[in-house]
Amino acid sequence: MGSMGAAEKPHAVCLPYPAQGHITPMLNVAKLLHARGFDVTFVNTEYNQARLVRSRGPAAVAGVPGFRFATIPDGLPQSDDDDVTQDIPALCKSTTETCLGPFRRVLAELNADTAHPPVTCVISDVVMGFSMEAAKELGLTYVQLWTASAISFLGYRHYRLLMKRGLAPLKDVEQLTNGYLDTPVDDVPGLRGMRLRDFPTFFRTTDPDEYMVHYVLRETERTAGASAVILNSLDELEGEAVAAMEALGLPKVYALGPLPLLAREDPPTARSAINLSLWKEQDECLEWLDGRAPGSVVYVNFGSITVMTNAQMVEFAWGLAQSGRQFVWVVRRDLVKGDAAVLPEEFLAETAGRGLMPSWCPQQEVLDHPAVGAFLTHSGWNSTMESLCGGVPVISWPFFADQQTNCRYQCQQWGVGMEIDSNVRRDAVAGLITEIMEGEKGKGMRKRAVDWKECARKAAMPGGSSHGNFDELVRDVLLPKN
Ligand code: UDX
Repeated sequence: MGSMGAAEKPHAVCLPYPAQGHITPMLNVAKLLHARGFDVTFVNTEYNQARLVRSRGPAAVAGVPGFRFATIPDGLPQSDDDDVTQDIPALCKSTTETCLGPFRRVLAELNADTAHPPVTCVISDVVMGFSMEAAKELGLTYVQLWTASAISFLGYRHYRLLMKRGLAPLKDVEQLTNGYLDTPVDDVPGLRGMRLRDFPTFFRTTDPDEYMVHYVLRETERTAGASAVILNSLDELEGEAVAAMEALGLPKVYALGPLPLLAREDPPTARSAINLSLWKEQDECLEWLDGRAPGSVVYVNFGSITVMTNAQMVEFAWGLAQSGRQFVWVVRRDLVKGDAAVLPEEFLAETAGRGLMPSWCPQQEVLDHPAVGAFLTHSGWNSTMESLCGGVPVISWPFFADQQTNCRYQCQQWGVGMEIDSNVRRDAVAGLITEIMEGEKGKGMRKRAVDWKECARKAAMPGGSSHGNFDELVRDVLLPKN
């Protein structure tokens, strides 16, 4: 960027959907832009900003020169517990219905303040699409970030196709369990080997007016009005789906993944001090891993939203115990529905010394640790990309939304995963762990995971696909044309 003066500096306003799996990839995009000389304003909800201050201290949101935070209310009523994952459908509805006004005010205030350059572009989460109106009113460049996979975008967009064919909504709830979901749907452009059950889960309803179905359709269709779309993926992994997205009339789609690699700074600078993890990481697990043999530990983590019943948790626990393996199992405070998690005393006694159970961890560092041999995951997209960066094969227990689609591809197309039945049983957990850690199938998966890791590393390096796509995005879309 050479000797760009302060007055000509571009200024990007980044607006993530207010959940961890969306904040993290948006922060990586924000850091990349900042490193390219952009002024950056990162917009948190008041709820999340307060959580960050409580868990990490005020420095967490103090910003650094040229990188500041702004807040908007999320529109939800105040809750009794202010440190939990919020209700996702309620948050989708409240942001859609109430956040446009506050976001307009943030843009106006930024433009009225001469301490930094005027806003030149907005990078918005696809599912915060209300922001398009505010950006267009001001004539700003408007780019959307889809934080999940390209295949899941296609899955959502083609709900229309499922509806047209009478496959969705469901006729009755029996269709959830009578094999109906195994119906092949093999002619969706850009998708391969799909069954109905591999589409994002929101269509699994008998209600033709289901809010989330219409919400994801509206948000993914609105994407056509953006100047560009960014993905946390790589052309080598999802090129076919990226092309299929563009063929739907979307603007150019830029795959910039894995974002954790592209945004990684070597050596780390002051900018890497910005960390927006909503829970405080327990770093001890890295020390614990340091003492273990390479590839010997099973890492278990179901992300920031998954909730399970206590009975399911107990099955996972006994599965881990039966496997005889060492494990790090991250048990979020709100992982279990209703009350806090209760694990049998016998399980704790039996696995003492070979299992560690923190409530939150620095996941990418854990997945990069040589001691980790397998990842028992819900296949959230960030976790999927982070396991790819770490070269770790997965056992997948998809929970909701796009995770079923990601799991299908991990197992069938990318060759790095095995699926656990949603009705989880301890024997199945133990069996799959044994298979992935020491079986023939596991060996093949591990080799492919390492190949993907190398592919991802190259994509994020100068000369690689994602690195080049980022250069192009900045040059062709984000820098103001004089
Ligand atoms: C959700 C959806 O599940 C996901 O599929 C969608 O694409 C985005 O929103 P979440 O369920 O939280 O996100 O999963 P995931 O996408 O994997 O994101 C979780 C993030 O939290 C990851 O970046 C992970 O590294 C981080 N994390 C999780 C930690 O840093 N520490 C933890 O202990 C757990």
